[in-house]
Parts: sequence; C-alpha cells; structure tokens
Amino acid sequence: MSKASEPDLQVLSRDVRKVAAQALVVGVGQTPDGPVLVDSPLSPKTSSAVAGSFGLLGVTGAVDQVVRLPGLPELDAEMLVLAGLGPVSAGEPLSTEALRRTAGSAVRQLAGTETVALALPAASVADAAAVAEGALLGAYSFTEHRSSHASKMPAPVSSITVVTAAAGEPALKPALERARVLGRAVNSTRSLVNQPPSHLYPETFAAAAREAARGLPVKVTVWDEKKLEREGFGGILGVGKGSSRPPRLVKLEYSPARAKAKLALVGKGITFDSGGLSLKPAAGMQAMKSDMGGAAVVLNALLAIAELGLPVKVTSWLCLAENMPSGTAQRPSDVMTTYGGRTVEVLNTDAEGRLVMADGLAVASEESPDVLIDVATLTGAQMIALGNRVSAVMGEDGVRDAVKAAADRAGELFWPMPLPEELRASLDSATADIANIGERFGGMMTAAVFLREFVGEVDGVKIPWAHLDIAGPAFNEGKPYGYTPKEGTGVAVRTLVSYAEDVLARTA
Ligand code: BES
Ligand code: MN
Ligand code: ZN
Repeated sequence: MSKASEPDLQVLSRDVRKVAAQALVVGVGQTPDGPVLVDSPLSPKTSSAVAGSFGLLGVTGAVDQVVRLPGLPELDAEMLVLAGLGPVSAGEPLSTEALRRTAGSAVRQLAGTETVALALPAASVADAAAVAEGALLGAYSFTEHRSSHASKMPAPVSSITVVTAAAGEPALKPALERARVLGRAVNSTRSLVNQPPSHLYPETFAAAAREAARGLPVKVTVWDEKKLEREGFGGILGVGKGSSRPPRLVKLEYSPARAKAKLALVGKGITFDSGGLSLKPAAGMQAMKSDMGGAAVVLNALLAIAELGLPVKVTSWLCLAENMPSGTAQRPSDVMTTYGGRTVEVLNTDAEGRLVMADGLAVASEESPDVLIDVATLTGAQMIALGNRVSAVMGEDGVRDAVKAAADRAGELFWPMPLPEELRASLDSATADIANIGERFGGMMTAAVFLREFVGEVDGVKIPWAHLDIAGPAFNEGKPYGYTPKEGTGVAVRTLVSYAEDVLARTA
C-alpha cells in the first residue's frame, strides 16, 4: 500500500496581485441581492468589472460552484477562479466549515492544476487554518490500482498557498501543522477504505497499521488467529471463520509521559462484509469493502494525536475479520463465547459488526479507560434514520454530548440518538445470554443497546462510553462535494482528534 505524496502548503500575506500561482481563488457569496465578491483581494476597478459579468458568466456563489476565468492584466496568476461560498450575510462572519468546504471544493475541482493560491475571506488564524485544512482534504486522489496506460486522471493540486492577513501571527504555525496532521490522517483513512478487499484483509490491514505507526511513539501488538483462540476472542473468530483470510486484533498504544486522560477507541474492521451465510443481495454488497471504516478511523485518529503530541493516553483496538460464507462459516443459530465469557446466539450472520465489537469493547474495558469510544459502520438503519451525510452518536449522556460538541467544532455532522431501555428485551435469546439481532425498527439503536452490554465497569460503575455509527457517511457512493471525494470519506477522524483536544482543555 503506497503512501500518497502530500501537497506542499505555504502562507502569504503579500498583495495577491503578485501571487505567481497558476490559479488564484477568490470567494463569491450569495446574498438576497445576488452574488458578491467577499473581501475581494482584487483592485476596486477589477472587482467591479468581474462582478459586473456575474450574470453573463452564470456565477451564483452557490456551494461547490467553481468558475474559471482567464488571468487579468493586474494579476500574476494565470487564471482567476471564482469559488462559491454559499449564503453570506453582511456583518456575520463565515463559519470555519464554510471556508473549509469552499477551499476543499475549489482545490478538488482544480485537479490538473499544479499551484493554487486561495484568497478567501480568512483573516484570523482559525480561518486560515480552516482554509488550509479544507484544501488538503480536497487535494486527494486514489490511483494506486490504475495502470499507467489507462485513462489519465488529472493529478491533485500539488502546491497550496493560503493568502491571509494572519500570515505573520505566531499561532499560525502550529495551526497549520495541525491542519497538515489532520489532512494526512483523513486522507490515509480514505485510502484504507478505498483499498479493495483483494488487497486489504485482516493480515494486510494489521501490517499496514504497523507500517503507519513506524517512527511514532506508538506501540503495536497484533493477535493472530492462534492467540485470539488462546485468549477467547470468540466474536472476532466466529465472524472470521468463513474466510480463508484469518482474523486479527490490533492494539495501538500511545502513552505520553504527562498524560492527563486515558482514552480507549475501538473500531469495526470488517474488510469485506458479504453477510456470511445470511448473504447480502448483490447490490447490498457493493460498498462493503468500506465496512472496516471504523478501524481505519481509530487507527488514524490515534496516529494524529501522537503526531500532535497531545498529552492524552490513547489505546486503539482494531477488530479485523472478513465476513464470508463457506463450509466453515458460522451458521445462523450458532452460539459463540465472546471475550470475557458472555455467550451470543448468532441469529443473523450479517449482524457481524456487533460480534467483533463485543470482543473489542470487553478487552478495551479491562484497562479501565476514563472514556471508551467505538466507531463502526454498524447498521443500514443508520442510513434510514439520518441519511448519508449525518453520523449518529449514542451512549452515556456526557460522552455523547461531548462527542457532538467536538464534531461541531471539527465541522463534521453528527447527531445524538437515544438508547431506549425497552429495546434490550428484544435481544433476549432462548439459548444464550443475548441474541445478535432484535427489534428491527430503530435498528441502529438496537445495535447500540447490544454493544452497551459489553462495556465494562470500573469499581461497579460503567465506563463512560459513546458509540459512533458512521455506516452511511463513511463511504460516499454519490458525487464528490465540498472536500469530500467519492468512496472513502475519512469521517470521524477529525471529531475524535477534536474530542481529545477538548478533554485536555477541560482538564487544564
Ligand atoms: N455493514 C453492515 C451495515 C451497513 C449497511 C453499513 C450499509 C454500510 C452500509 C452491517 O454489518 C449489517 O449488515 N447490518 C445489518 C444488521 C441486521 C442484519 C440486523 C443491517 O443493517 O441490515
Ligand atoms: Mn453485516
Ligand atoms: Zn458489517
């Protein structure tokens, strides 16, 4: 699995007319009176000439609109690009997410251009960092499996310049470094998700995790099928039984000396979910290479936190298996024993995520973390409830609300959902401690209620826990938008890093 090269990133406060990039991007906002150039860096005369032709050019300022104009006599840049900021109102600042999204959309759509300068309305450190972050997220492509003689894909933008009045501020340097780390973490998550299951299976995923942690103060431990057997990881083994590719459990530990909190992350890593003997229909299987998205997220969030050197101890658990039908696969009505001894009746082999997560939550709990967060592409019901762009967060009220707040700050869409008590009874099994399927209506919450059973206690008190169901948002089957490409999106990485930062801010 090859590492993508990163674009280089610089900031500039100089007169934009002297920026020697191929493309100079400026923002156009929508107002009730029509589109306007926002904080135009161009001369007043040029600005009004450009704005005067908005109608003829079809410029509206709508989100994701990118209009290219030839260079102008006053500009060194070879092309002027008008990028839609969406609705703006006088006196109200743009959200950081609007800046991130506009920068990302422009850079994404300018693939094939090498050097791009972004002169968007970003005068503060936070806004300039948002532009940088969005641009890095937009400069993504996944071409590893294209042969050289196949159709030429335009290369992503390789050099990004953020034009901002904050260029001289000392706080900008760490803010840009954070944007680089986040960009790297999200893009690595996307590439793991995009990797086809012919290439990414538990063993190669574990190897990729090891490789990714190299050079960082992160300890990696891998359980192979024999060790999983010896230690009783019946959930991961049961799901992996049908595949010729044996399962793995990966533990990554980042333990800084002055750690102020202890966070445990658990990720669902089904490298392909065929459904097993409860086989999915062909259409339902197409996107199932993405069913390891949660594991990719907890891997890369930990690496990002380590790269940033945040004083939080983080342990990530990657529960890796391939869910396949075969003569050795688990059968509907099989009973297996999860890590720690609870038994589960497997009534539907397609509800496999909760089985591997049961092992992961149980083993993560043994280390008594302050907080336990799991990330999983767990249910189709998530998409029924919240659609393809909004992820769900469930769990203990405090952690759930803190995750929602972190997501808001990161610019990711999460929404809190409840854990209705009465759903637990629907998971009662005639044979084992619990069944792996229950009430179908509100099935996302049923799955979360199942997971809650495996969250451990410390001194008789349940470990504060949240569950993130990213089934829809992890994988974009539609057109790209904003900084979001097709296929793997990397959603939840930025939320988890923001969450860790928030925990620190609260302990300070
Ligand atoms: N990996 C799927 C959930 C999923 C579906 C993720 C669509 C992304 C897009 C999960 O393992 C699954 O199959 N869940 C079943 C559970 C059911 C059998 C109770 C589902 O949602 O249908
Ligand atoms: Mn499934
Ligand atoms: Zn699955």
